[in-house]
Amino acid sequence: VSPGVVAAVERLMRRVEDFPVAGVQFCDLTPVLADPEGFDAVVAGLAAGHEIGSVDYVAGLDARGFLLAGAVALRLQTGVLAIRKAGKLPPPVHSRSYELEYGAATLELPADGLDLSGTRILVVDDVLATGGTLGAAVGLLDDCGAVVTGLSVVLEVPGLGGRDRLSGTPLTCLTVA
Ligand code: PRP
Ligand code: MG
Repeated sequence: VSPGVVAAVERLMRRVEDFPVAGVQFCDLTPVLADPEGFDAVVAGLAAGHEIGSVDYVAGLDARGFLLAGAVALRLQTGVLAIRKAGKLPPPVHSRSYELEYGAATLELPADGLDLSGTRILVVDDVLATGGTLGAAVGLLDDCGAVVTGLSVVLEVPGLGGRDRLSGTPLTCLTVA
């Protein structure tokens, strides 16, 4: 990852103390993605290490991963997949539930109309914290017969075990909270 990406994220990221609960610092990437150079640097960083032709789809995780996945997919000349939270897609769906830092959730993909068996997928999200979200996405894509060839996130929150939970799949984190 180029030093320019790290610098852009560090310069533009908004850090908010005691959100969503006391003692936690929230890292808001909104100003990074709102900046043309910041957004370009982030998208390039997320795609780095993945050649055109080495990935069949880029998948973004509901909701903030959507902002990134479409742009990374264009860069890698692939289609884009939206991995949705529960209740957004009509049946039949593949689904995986997971624990969040604050609560629980379910991720889903259509089980019809999309054959992912044997496809190579780069999964993109904004933040890695506990790894519950990315872990569920990997499990969901595995259920679909796909191969997750990489995971790329903008920001890693260390000390929550996320990286360990995802060991086995190449992981790119552009910066650390
Ligand atoms: C946030 C963030 C990541 C996830 C990381 O999503 O966007 O997707 O948490 O946490 P984890 O590694 O502990 O799973 P969240 O579901 O809170 O909200 P969003 O719909 O705004 O993306
Ligand atoms: Mg999210």
